[in-house]
Amino acid sequence: MSIEKGTLEIKALSKSFIVDGNPLQILNNINIVFPAGAFISIVGSSGCGKTTLLRIMLGLETQYEGDALIDGEKIVGPGLNRGIVFQDHRLLPWLTVGENVAFGLEKLKRKEKKLIVDEHLKLVGLSGFVSAYPSQLSGGMAQRVAIARALASKPEILLMDEPLGALDALTRMYMQKELERIWLFEKISMIMVTHDVEEAIYLSDKVVIMSSRPGIIKKIIDVPLPRPRDRASSAFMQIKAEILKEFHLETEYPFAYAI
Ligand SMILES: Nc1ncnc2c1ncn2[C@@H]1O[C@H](COP(=O)(O)OP(=O)(O)OP(=O)(O)O)[C@@H](O)[C@H]1O
Ligand SMILES: [Mg+2]
Repeated sequence: MSIEKGTLEIKALSKSFIVDGNPLQILNNINIVFPAGAFISIVGSSGCGKTTLLRIMLGLETQYEGDALIDGEKIVGPGLNRGIVFQDHRLLPWLTVGENVAFGLEKLKRKEKKLIVDEHLKLVGLSGFVSAYPSQLSGGMAQRVAIARALASKPEILLMDEPLGALDALTRMYMQKELERIWLFEKISMIMVTHDVEEAIYLSDKVVIMSSRPGIIKKIIDVPLPRPRDRASSAFMQIKAEILKEFHLETEYPFAYAI
């Protein structure tokens, strides 16, 4: 059976880093399929290996045991079929918004580039800002440009590492709605790391819960709620409680308070 485009598969994956000359296991036997077209979030405590896992999916880390496959093929490096959005927008300050979005499209003709830039700035609601510079944008607007840039090369999968983490609470909720709208429009797979459990439930088909030392997948929780989701509904709250319970179980108190 052929694999649908946009499927990412992690099989028996373990990853260690050398720390102080010794191997330190970061990820242990990760097995998961990110189905084509799904929105999946990954939550887990700081340091449990979420960014490392994303870097493996991007092809930036290639030293590990096990397999990371896109559309059934081993990931050997970064590729245009995967886009990335980080917590900080990473726009180039000396380029305009339009030039930033066009940054990965250097092989295309000017006219084609312009069409793609216009299309994607419209998608993220920034049509009038093509000539603005990043310093003239708010945090939410800059992050929209980063999303437009990542989508401009038409990836099958958009990977996001805490993409809304630097925004204030209200802008963040607004951007969650925007991200949902973009996902529904683009119909591509999205994989998002977040520390915000509500954000994960609001956006995702499934929430992957990781725990640390070494990082494992502790639980995968389905979110079968209709969209757009009502954060105040009892079904939403119930799923939130179910996820938070997983965190309370692994809460550690490593700090002693000196009196
Ligand atoms: N290049 C590296 N060399 C050595 N150790 C590393 C390297 N990159 C990451 N680590 C270690 O791997 C562990 C996981 O890091 P990672 O950045 O994947 O965590 P994370 O879950 O994304 O954390 P956070 O939520 O704080 O972003 C950490 O203990 C980190 O110190
Ligand atoms: Mg991280």
